[in-house]
Amino acid sequence: MSEVRPEALVAAAPAEALVPAVPAHGAALALIHAACFPPEGRWGLDAMALQLELPGAFGWIAEAGGMVLARTVADEAEILTLAVAPAMRRRGLAGRLLDRAMATARARGAAIMLLEVGVANAPAQALYAGRGFLPVGRRRGYYAGGEDALILRASLPEVPPCG
Ligand SMILES: CC(C)(COP(=O)(O)OP(=O)(O)OC[C@H]1O[C@@H](n2cnc3c(N)ncnc32)[C@H](O)[C@@H]1OP(=O)(O)O)[C@@H](O)C(=O)NCCC(=O)NCCS
Repeated sequence: MSEVRPEALVAAAPAEALVPAVPAHGAALALIHAACFPPEGRWGLDAMALQLELPGAFGWIAEAGGMVLARTVADEAEILTLAVAPAMRRRGLAGRLLDRAMATARARGAAIMLLEVGVANAPAQALYAGRGFLPVGRRRGYYAGGEDALILRASLPEVPPCG
């Protein structure tokens, strides 16, 4: 029987599989982001690489068109950005990305997660509400277009030990 090489498995991974985002994904991350945010709110390739180089930063990408970047500092985690390309929406991809980010943050020692979301962004608010996020504050004029942001917070539940 022929040997299966690891690179062959990577090549065979479905495009919707979540893989850890690294600076080399900068172009793919920027493309997904550009498909999801207005020009004044887009992060380019360099911004993506810089975000991933922040202390405690991590990310997940589905090369089919979804990404999340997050960061842990001590026992707090923060979602930096989350986006799913229009053609890939309403298939549960954002939910999987958020679940993975929450699990990663918990595994890194975070007990809570915070994020900002536009007051008019009903789809994202529904996504976050479904994962237990609750509003804890508001930032006036937070976005480039002048929209306010809600600050949302969720507890990151302990994963019970096996057995
Ligand atoms: C918000 C966003 C990430 C959702 O991505 P998605 O892959 O379509 O979301 P999912 O399919 O995983 O949906 C998960 C839940 O989110 C909510 N949701 C997603 N899209 C929604 C919509 N258009 N209207 C209402 N609720 C929606 C629902 O509660 C959904 O659960 P359900 O399918 O059981 O009803 C996507 O629309 C997006 O990238 N928007 C632009 C960028 C953005 O706003 N990012 C968040 C910034 S804080």
